[in-house]
Formats: sequence, C-alpha cells, structure tokens
Amino acid sequence: MKTQVCIIGGGPSGLLLSQLLHLKGIDNVVLERHSREYVLARIRAGVLEHGFAKLMREAQCGERMDREGEIHEGFFIANEGRLNRVDLHKYSGGSSVVVYGQTELTRDLYDARAQMKGQVIHNAEDVALHDLTSAKPGVTYRAGDEVVRIECDYVIGADGFHGVSRKSIPKTVLKEYEKVYPFGWLGVLSRTKPVSPELIYARHERGFALCSLRSQVLSRYYIQVPLSDTVEGWSDDAFWAELKRRLPAEVGARMVTGPSIEKSIAPLRSFVAEPMRYGNLFLAGDAAHIVPPTGARGLNSAASDIYYLYHAMVAHYQRGDESGLEGYSAKALARVWKAQRFSWWMTMMLHTFPDSIEYDRKLQDTDLAYLFSSEAAMSSLAENYVGLPF
Ligand code: APR
Ligand code: PHB
Repeated sequence: MKTQVCIIGGGPSGLLLSQLLHLKGIDNVVLERHSREYVLARIRAGVLEHGFAKLMREAQCGERMDREGEIHEGFFIANEGRLNRVDLHKYSGGSSVVVYGQTELTRDLYDARAQMKGQVIHNAEDVALHDLTSAKPGVTYRAGDEVVRIECDYVIGADGFHGVSRKSIPKTVLKEYEKVYPFGWLGVLSRTKPVSPELIYARHERGFALCSLRSQVLSRYYIQVPLSDTVEGWSDDAFWAELKRRLPAEVGARMVTGPSIEKSIAPLRSFVAEPMRYGNLFLAGDAAHIVPPTGARGLNSAASDIYYLYHAMVAHYQRGDESGLEGYSAKALARVWKAQRFSWWMTMMLHTFPDSIEYDRKLQDTDLAYLFSSEAAMSSLAENYVGLPF
C-alpha cells in the first residue's frame, strides 16, 4: 500500500490531522490499534481552548461541538471555604473555552472520516516503523495473519503516551523530561445536574477537588487521592462525602448526588520528549508530551502540534516549501513547554503534597492571594487557560 502520510494513532490528534490533510487533497492512512468502540469508551477531559475549536471547524467537524458544547467565560477557584471567580472573558481580551467532551469530539472526527471515506484502519496490531531516516519510510502492521506494509513520505506518531512511535527514536537522539506527582485524580461521571454552571477548582487541606461537567445533566467530578488507592476502595457514597468535604459548605450543600456511571483513577504526570522530529517521523500530541489535568491543557497542548504539522505539510505538498517541516520540532516544543509550565503551576498551587513543609503551604496561600489581588496575574492565568496563540 502507498500513501503520502501514514498517521499512527486514531485518537483526537491523529484523526484531526487526517481530516485536515484529506480536505487539502493530501492522501493519508490512519492506523489505530484498537476498535472504534474501544476508543470511544474512554472518558477523557472536556475543556477545549479556542484554537482547538477553530481547528475542528476548519476540519468541518465543528457543527455538533458548536450546537451542544457550552461556551465558558470563567471558572472558580475555591480556597478556605470561599469561591473566587476567574473572569476569562475579561482578562483574556474577550476569549473563552468550549466545554465539550473529548469522547464526543472523537466520535465527530470518526464520523467525518467515514463520511469522506478516509482510510482509518482499526485493530492494526504490531505496528512497526521502518527506514525513518530514508526518503521512503515504511510502516508495517498485522491484520490477523497478514502483515501489511505501507510506503509513505512521512510518518506521524500520534499514538499517545504508550505508543510505538516515540520508542522508535534511538535513545541516543531522544531526551525525555519527566515529573511524576505523588497522587492521582479519582474521577466520577454521573447523570446529575452539575453543582455549578462553571467549573470549580478547589484547594483544600484534605486534597484538591474539581467540579466539572459535560452538559447540564451530566457531571464530572474529581478528587485528589493517594496513588495507593483503588477504584474498588471508593464506594459512590464515600466519594460524594469526600468531595463535599473539600468544597465550600454552600456548594457542598447544593450538590446533587447519584450513581456513578464511570469511575477511574489517573496518576498525574508531566512529560516532554525532545526532539519531536526524527528523520521523516513527526511526533504529535500525547506521544510527545503529557500534562497533569489541572490546567485543562491535555488536548489543547496537542492542538498546536496538529496546527503546525498541518500547515507544514500543506506548504510542502502545495508549494515545495520545507520551512514548516524543518522548523516543526522547535516551534511545537516552544509552545508545549509553556503548557507544561502552566499545568505544573496550577498543579503545585492547588494540591496538597504529602511531603510539603509549612513554608510550601505559605507560598501556595501567597500564590492565590497574589492572583486575586493583581490584574496582571489574572491576565496571565486567563491568557494561558484560554490557550496561548499558535
Ligand atoms: N499502534 C496503533 N495505534 C496505537 C498504538 C500503536 N502501537 N499505540 C497507541 N495507539 C493508539 C491508541 O489506541 C489511541 O487511540 O493511539 C491513540 C492515541 O490517542 P490519545 O492517547 O488520545 O492521544 P492524542 O490523540 O494525542 O490525544 C491527546 O489529550 O486530553 C488529552 O490525554 C488526553 O487523549 C488525550 C490527548
Ligand atoms: C474534565 O471535565 O474532565 C476536566 C475539566 C478541567 C480540567 C480537567 C478535567 O482541568
């Protein structure tokens, strides 16, 4: 099989790039290890920055997002029993974020790919990358007993943190930066009315909590838990009781509880792999970098990778201009690190660290006090939360 661009990974990054390239007449194939049903069963975050939403529209996949997604112009930070509002609209010069589940977004991308008869190959096993530094790289995969080889110009590694693409770059070339936090987030999805129309990030000595939502009838809540905790160890009742304890009393009092429809624990990690290009392989999204979820940067950090790659590929194929591909890694990493800094800062400011000393907690207090007393600090938070320019 021959194609121009072989994309590994059918998550949001790979599918969005596939759709954008196809619309510009650039032939591509997506190889996904799992079935469509499996990918769509994963519950992921739900805040999209402006730039990502714009890319979805450009990819002709924004219709349902614009109809069902909610525009959020602010959120709350709870501290010492009080709610403080962050006015994103005011402090970002009129910008906002879209609350729309990543699972729904992935479904829209799959539907669009199917409608355009895009090639998305599911259940592709044993994906392997070959000849990455040659002019004609190849990708092989196994479908049942058959091994298929795809010849292409470029390989895109959009196969997430556990994918094969990053691991195909020699260890002598790749440098990895990692910070693992000593806790995880226990998340619960429930068919209940959200406690607040806008998100609440809550700092509390018992641990961080977050009130989020997918719609006005679907809530998503999280609490910080030790890494040793298990989902089985947390009954729904115990979860709701702990969540309420960490929120301002008036918020806890109006919390509507109900059975969980999904419950999972995710560890928190910051990670960057450099460079994001090796020969004719380009990494994008979670394959190259991970953020803790505190600043809602996960998918948004992937958005700029896709934007840069898309424009670099179009420049290459339509105008023979190589500058976008040449500059991709440096340009992508510059923005990736800014998203890393922001997520790290939000995480450090709002969580309870098991080994923290009194001095650290005083600095957290001061960080929050400064934030809510300084227009400059607010603007910095808002600018990062709605998404830095590409
Ligand atoms: N071969 C083929 N596909 C693979 C392989 C492999 N060896 N390894 C992983 N994949 C697939 C996964 O099954 C998954 O569907 O690659 C896809 C990667 O998708 P994501 O992990 O969702 O990563 P990405 O598309 O970069 O999405 C960005 O934003 O909110 C964050 O972490 C969240 O997924 C989110 C991310
Ligand atoms: C979510 O809705 O899942 C969510 C929202 C904001 C975050 C993290 C997760 O910062």
